[in-house]
Amino acid sequence: MSGCGGILIRGGTVVNENSSVLADVYIECGLIQAVGCQLPHPKGCRVIDATGKLVLPGGIDSHTHMQFPFMGYQAVDDFYHGTKAAVAGGTTMILDFVIPNKDESLLAAYDKWRSWADPKVCCDYSFHVAVTWWSEKVKDEMEILVKKRGVNSFKMFMAYKGVFMLQDDELYPVFCHCKKLGAIAQVHAENGHLIAEGAKKLLSQGITGPEGHELCRPEQVEAEATLRAITIASCINCPLYIVHVMSKSAANVIVNARREGKVVFGEPIAASLGTDGTHYWDKDWRKAAGYVMGPPLRPDPTTPGYLMDLLANGDLTLTGTDNCTFNGCQKAFGKDDFTKIPNGVNGVEDRMSIIWEKGVHSGKMDENRFVAVTSTNAAKIFNLYPKKGIIAKGSDADIVIWDPHAVRTISAKTHHQLVDFNIFEGMVCHGVPLVTISRGKVVYEDGILHVMQGSGKYIPRKPFADYVFKRIKQRDEVCLPTPVQREPYQGEVMSPSPTTTSHHCGKQSCH
Ligand code: URP
Ligand code: ZN
Ligand code: ZN
Repeated sequence: MSGCGGILIRGGTVVNENSSVLADVYIECGLIQAVGCQLPHPKGCRVIDATGKLVLPGGIDSHTHMQFPFMGYQAVDDFYHGTKAAVAGGTTMILDFVIPNKDESLLAAYDKWRSWADPKVCCDYSFHVAVTWWSEKVKDEMEILVKKRGVNSFKMFMAYKGVFMLQDDELYPVFCHCKKLGAIAQVHAENGHLIAEGAKKLLSQGITGPEGHELCRPEQVEAEATLRAITIASCINCPLYIVHVMSKSAANVIVNARREGKVVFGEPIAASLGTDGTHYWDKDWRKAAGYVMGPPLRPDPTTPGYLMDLLANGDLTLTGTDNCTFNGCQKAFGKDDFTKIPNGVNGVEDRMSIIWEKGVHSGKMDENRFVAVTSTNAAKIFNLYPKKGIIAKGSDADIVIWDPHAVRTISAKTHHQLVDFNIFEGMVCHGVPLVTISRGKVVYEDGILHVMQGSGKYIPRKPFADYVFKRIKQRDEVCLPTPVQREPYQGEVMSPSPTTTSHHCGKQSCH
């Protein structure tokens, strides 16, 4: 420990997913060098007093869309403003999505997204890649992405018909390929056909406002697709990750699948845990439109509490935000037709506080489970652990000093995101990040940001994360079907009649 630019965090409670201990943390050269009692104070190092505070692994937001070009507009929070807001909220890594258009090269899209992100990011990041069409070229490019670009997760859309949606007979080979490559298959689970039909019907009935967005895609539309994706994945023993779990019905499908032993992970988001879909019926159009996202928030106001219970008890695994922000003037493109409202909401800045308030402060989960669902489990699923997701010697120094008792009120007037609306407006949250440290540098302290554009790094990820694939590999080895050993059939075999169309019923040709 030389003391060159080091930081000693003294006197806090270090919280990991499995323990909370009073300990000091010494950071140098971007890494955690030591965790222990009464660590020495190297000459020249900065000391941060964390007495009475919690020292947590920085949050990992598993699901963002910074500057995403979508539905005719570009999301306003770009990789700079989005990651700046992330660190202000205690998140030190985001996993964003590369989303190629149909027929676009996945590699070209990946390069494009890297060129957007690299000069702007203020914290570490990585990419999931969407598979929006299927061909031999896509198959080859997926392999290159895994082997040469550090991608170990691919998202498939079952909604956005005609744009990003894949059919079941495409999902099957994509899931097979993901499994072969050791990448986790992720799905946006909504039935795109039913949404398209429902939207047409509602518009013809004169329902043009944001309430139509929910009405055309009720819970069953999400639950049906969730079950379908799980069914397809489980037929090939492929692990599956359901992004943005928004409803009780979809969550119940995941719970049942996990109870049956399937390797399925559910990701509720800050929005589905922190607010609900009653807002779609707000008289103020702009406000109602501010909540439009897919799948929608649910009008059943008990939904957030229910999802939080499942997150607390392990039925749901981790949290993201689906942060994808559009200003009022962009949302207003759909003022006379809800299908034209750009879909997406905020969350990257407020996720940690929302989950602390609704999860920990409410008594549903302890601080260790909080760390698991905001950081560690994402690190494990996406093979970032133990580089990320834990406070331990040798891990990246991505740390938040958290005041569990401090309170803040969320507002678009004070948030660091560029978007002009906040779906959590007015919410009072216990649990406030005091200091955020990214790769050993203090990037946020006492309400002041100290970020530098482009200081974050792209983090490549290896395939075959143990947390996801150990069970899969073992099942493939021991659960192979074996043929029944029989004596060969010795009886008569009648040739099929060329005029008979029946495949299975022998009666027509065997009389
Ligand atoms: O409304 C949403 N969710 N916007 C982002 C795209 C997606 O489906 O994740
Ligand atoms: Zn989605
Ligand atoms: Zn998304």
